[in-house]
Amino acid sequence: MKGTGRLLSLLAVVSGVAPAHDIITTKLTFTRDISRIFARHCVVCHSEIATIPLVTYEEVRPWAVSIKEQVLSRAMPPFGAVKGFGRLMPDEALSQEDITIIAAWVVGGAPQGDPGQLPKVPPTQVGRTPVRPMVERCVVETRAVLRNSLQASGIKPLTNRTVASARVVATLPDGRMVPLVWLYNYDPKFARTFQFAEPVFLPAGTVVSASAPLEYAIESASASVEANR
Ligand code: HEC
Repeated sequence: MKGTGRLLSLLAVVSGVAPAHDIITTKLTFTRDISRIFARHCVVCHSEIATIPLVTYEEVRPWAVSIKEQVLSRAMPPFGAVKGFGRLMPDEALSQEDITIIAAWVVGGAPQGDPGQLPKVPPTQVGRTPVRPMVERCVVETRAVLRNSLQASGIKPLTNRTVASARVVATLPDGRMVPLVWLYNYDPKFARTFQFAEPVFLPAGTVVSASAPLEYAIESASASVEANR
């Protein structure tokens, strides 16, 4: 075919710039060490079909320097909320040890290692926190009074804009305030539910409100719920 010759020469150019001359100064490898960390913490968003897939060594290698910056600054994995506000399930945050391993691997030349040492379980099946089945959800436009009580299992932002900062708080009928979630630099691309560590009981008459205009769903693992403004 007509285009084939051009494609082949393009491929030749691409492989010509492959990092063939990196000096490897680390024993850490992608197949043994990094792939396991990524399976647990990154592939949920960076799967084969993501804009930036990070599943295979070939996909990961060109991003090595950026990956090091992203994990050292804790920009990745993103959370989009302030920790310690509300009682949320643990997310896919990296431990300090994982961050050190990733950084040392990149600085050491980001070697691939023996393909035979790749994890046997496909990365997409390495679970993060299991998601509780959601039975019902109650959509709130910034503020609502709950007509029925509910067992809230989490909060899902329903916005298509980045949220700089929005605190979502429940005020119970007895006046007690319960912090639910504080969105912070939340990017709609994350498309996530902030799940509570334990279901939060919100009796009828509870006022749920966000500190900035925001549409969100209160997800519920049980009970019937309706809201009015
Ligand atoms: C909750 C989802 C999510 C998780 C988990 C996640 N990422 Fe990301 N990452 C994103 C999104 C969204 C972008 C923006 C790029 C895009 O449009 O897809 C991004 C971008 C990046 C970029 C590119 C940054 C740049 O230079 O533009 C790198 C590198 C990256 N992620 C590395 C990682 C690593 C390493 C992990 C695991 C330790 C990780 N990410 C976990 C969602 C995620």
